[in-house]
Amino acid sequence: MLRLLAPAAIAVLLLGSAPAAPDAVERRVEALIGRMTLDEKVGQLNLVSNEDIFRPEHVIAGRIGAAINFNDAPEIAAVQKLVRQSRLKIPILFGLDVLHGFRTVFPVPLAETATFNPALARAASEAAAREAAASGLQWTYAPMVDLSRDPRWGRMVEGSGEDPYVGRIFAAARVEGFRAGGLATSAKHFAGYGAAEGGRDYDATLIPRNELRDAYLPPFRAAVRAGSDTLMSAFNALNGVPSTANPWLLTEVLRREWGFDGFVTSDWAAMHELIAHGIAKDGPEAARKAILAGVDMDMMSGFYDAHLADEVKAGRVPQAVVDEAVRRVLRVKFRLGLFDRPDVDPGAPAPATPEARAVARAVARESMVLLQNRDSTLPLKAGTRSIAVVGALAASKADPMGPHACRGEPDETVSFVEGIERRAKEAGVGVTYAQGCDLFCTGNDGFEAAVRAARGADAVVAVVGEPRDISGESASRAYLGLTGRQRELLDALNGTGKPVILVLMAGRPLELGSLPQTTPAILMAWYPGTEGGTALGEVLFGDVNPSGKLPVSYLRTVGQVPLTYNRLPSGRPTIGRERFTLTYIDEDVSPLFPFGWGLSYTTFAFTSPKVATPRVEASESVEVSVTLTNTGDRAGQEVAQLYVRQPVANRSRPMRELKAFQKVALEPHESRLVTFRVPAAELGYHLEDGTYVVEPGSYQVGVGGNAQAELGSVFEVTTELRLPPGREP
Ligand code: BGC
Repeated sequence: MLRLLAPAAIAVLLLGSAPAAPDAVERRVEALIGRMTLDEKVGQLNLVSNEDIFRPEHVIAGRIGAAINFNDAPEIAAVQKLVRQSRLKIPILFGLDVLHGFRTVFPVPLAETATFNPALARAASEAAAREAAASGLQWTYAPMVDLSRDPRWGRMVEGSGEDPYVGRIFAAARVEGFRAGGLATSAKHFAGYGAAEGGRDYDATLIPRNELRDAYLPPFRAAVRAGSDTLMSAFNALNGVPSTANPWLLTEVLRREWGFDGFVTSDWAAMHELIAHGIAKDGPEAARKAILAGVDMDMMSGFYDAHLADEVKAGRVPQAVVDEAVRRVLRVKFRLGLFDRPDVDPGAPAPATPEARAVARAVARESMVLLQNRDSTLPLKAGTRSIAVVGALAASKADPMGPHACRGEPDETVSFVEGIERRAKEAGVGVTYAQGCDLFCTGNDGFEAAVRAARGADAVVAVVGEPRDISGESASRAYLGLTGRQRELLDALNGTGKPVILVLMAGRPLELGSLPQTTPAILMAWYPGTEGGTALGEVLFGDVNPSGKLPVSYLRTVGQVPLTYNRLPSGRPTIGRERFTLTYIDEDVSPLFPFGWGLSYTTFAFTSPKVATPRVEASESVEVSVTLTNTGDRAGQEVAQLYVRQPVANRSRPMRELKAFQKVALEPHESRLVTFRVPAAELGYHLEDGTYVVEPGSYQVGVGGNAQAELGSVFEVTTELRLPPGREP
């Protein structure tokens, strides 16, 4: 993968405009601000969508600072021409939601995270940015770095799952990738949006500040450190204060503690929503609260445009606050080189590039998670002569692209059936396709034909899950079972006695009920993008050995959520379902498949970890090694995951926390010494006031292939570390 990336990265270095020196940028910003009227300043803070309200005369008057939903070169070039007629000719910043692809669609971010291969996420982001930038786009509303522990929340699909460490690593990889490909980034949604009460999108979040700093903020911090140019504030009220008017979040933490000097945009019409939130009586008050809290740009409320100048004139908003917001916006524009580059060529072609397609295939191959594989049902046996493929999702060319597919073309997607057929043809294996039922499986008219196809085949590939329309924003689900009659269809297929390979297409874990007992093989394919079908064919036939791992704990039932591996221990630790211990009376508390889980066609063994540094100071690193062996006959990749627990501390600490991982490729029977160096400074936690503490004492460590790795070794941290807010590692 890195090999694939290298030429592209070099090209950026050679062709991209060199970033302007910081002083030069600041000088140009100040000089420009000095020439601007109040109205022109307010204009820079106004982000408008490509709709009727986007007026040419507003562009010429300098009333629009940024634009969303312009998505091709001719449209963008036309607006840039209008900018040339404005007094100061300040370039408009063109942004779009480029999350997992522009024309070429990569696996959705949650799937991309399942690769546990950040280099792939970086490569995908870079390739996506390259395609988007070729059409004149300059800014992406990505990465989405909201931690999410609740699959009812449909936007889990856009992020990195439940783990703060994984969230940090992937946030940084994506920011670097997008920027290398030529787009500014906007890490979103700041902050706590993924913890919506009840998994209901847009609902309030209540997160203690220490927990916010331990779990929810680190991915944002990582994005900022990786150079994210902008951040997007969230829709939700966080502990009672909407993020779009939250001075603690946007000024205290982001600016004062973290030193962020880019700008913050609101989310779509979020300033308007301050009225519904009940913290502003009207537009002027909403605009005032937002700008004073630290929101620099208003996306689609029109409140800054309508009210900000009056608020300044009335003395309710200091001129200096507006100037500072403008400074941040212009700084980003200068840094991006927008003032120094030519307008986009309206004839610029925007093809899906073969390079991007190759990356999409590479990511898809590593993102699929083999959840179960009884009797080595997969890969398909050599003697397999025919396969029945069942399910409407298997033939869909739009659904594999997932939500937020940008300008992805369904026609360019390899559907699951197509991918399987292509590969089967090479192997001389016959494929019969039967839909079974429609996308939501509302009827059973097609069951008979599906069962007939299954009976006539050696193996059955049943594709079920959730169509992409019920995943993503505003797609919270109260039920997480298979929709419609999909379960009945699977029962009918299992009833044929043929080996059924259940392929899930979904943006989150779905309840499987007793299916794991009746179905030998289960593969989570997520929404794997343009090349998903190709990758699926390769996985089923064994050309690709699955290596994806779950970035979220896989629930047994929706009643278990929120569900996360790194929860606190409780004074009544779980003992099976024993009453008066931490359990449900009617269900296990454990997940169906733990965080980090994913099988391979080969097997791996870990030795117990050896700690080279049994005693470390808080300023030193802990060194832990294991020998990882591929104990099978097939080459494969395993993700060695290192978990740490502090069993006795001044406050109850998580049962375990992931502190490092490495994806390791091994030939059959090959062994490798895997060494981790974890700074002891990373082992701490926050107090409510933001102080970061690493306590001296004994720590347990374990390394394994999922979050159930045994914590069998210990080391000692001999000194204390205490850092003020913002200074944590
Ligand atoms: C979403 C954002 C997105 C924005 C612009 C909002 O509804 O919450 O994630 O960037 O729309 O499309």
